[in-house]
Amino acid sequence: MARARVGVLISGRGSNMAALLYASRLEGCPYEIALVAANDPQAPGLALAAAEGVTTFARCHKGLKRADFDGLIDAELRRHGCTHVALAGYMRLLSPGFVDRWAGRMVNIHPSLLPAYKGLDTHARAIAAGDGHGGCSVHLVTAELDDGPVLAQCPVAILPGDTAETLAARVLIAEHQLYPRTLWEWIAGANGPEALLTEVRARALALPEAREKLSHGTPGFHVEGGKFFAYFSHDRHGDAITSVLVRTSGVEEQASLIERDANLYYRPPYLGPSGWIGIRLDRGDTDWEHVGDWLARSWRMAAPKRLTRLRDIADRF
Ligand code: GRF
Repeated sequence: MARARVGVLISGRGSNMAALLYASRLEGCPYEIALVAANDPQAPGLALAAAEGVTTFARCHKGLKRADFDGLIDAELRRHGCTHVALAGYMRLLSPGFVDRWAGRMVNIHPSLLPAYKGLDTHARAIAAGDGHGGCSVHLVTAELDDGPVLAQCPVAILPGDTAETLAARVLIAEHQLYPRTLWEWIAGANGPEALLTEVRARALALPEAREKLSHGTPGFHVEGGKFFAYFSHDRHGDAITSVLVRTSGVEEQASLIERDANLYYRPPYLGPSGWIGIRLDRGDTDWEHVGDWLARSWRMAAPKRLTRLRDIADRF
């Protein structure tokens, strides 16, 4: 399976970006850095990324509406085939459309032990509160600032006499450990295409006389000697989408599904005209029971009568 392609968004120094980049060069790392983008052309991290041979994009956000600027960044991420986004000191609030587009595939590092101290001045606030520890958190990005599910944290002791600066410097050391490792494990883990394929495969092959066969380089599932009822699709059209494609009753049902939930369902290129539907698996909140129901239903449409009749009888018990 191809490595995940991470787009890193920065606004300044970019030391976390550098940590992610150097980790990506270690053997076995499941991701590569496909793009470093900044909302400030002077961001020092850009020069480092360029010197390391990473594609960069810089554009000052000033004078642009938030959604328009985010649209530019989104277009660059897509153009470079990014499958995931890592925010690394990106000092911009994101528009809801952008957050939604990358839901389940975008992470951030925040210099506090979330849910404590969201927002700015985290270290000063932790010291002022007399906390024993500060620290850092890596979390999924949702519409609410610094609020998404926490993937991992690292506490850092606050020393007597610490200032916001001295504490920040030590927390930064922890950040550089935490971020690459968390991104590595997260991408390699349940959220990765391998793991998603394993889940789909288990459910598809549990159906009567179901078999797996590569079809145009994509794992496909068909009924023995018969038609396909599902395809697993990962970044198939350079769209960074991981999904399962299943049959619907036709284009009308397909259209109504997309209308009902355009974040979950989409019309797959090529197969779309025949009423197949794409179900997104890469949004971080996959309802596997729902996927299983779809697979069973699609199987029914592809299976010969002899098998569906048996299935009907079995279902009655
Ligand atoms: C880090 O402290 C990070 O936690 C916060 O912004 C800072 C960015 O530093 N979100 P750098 O640009 O990665 O060096």
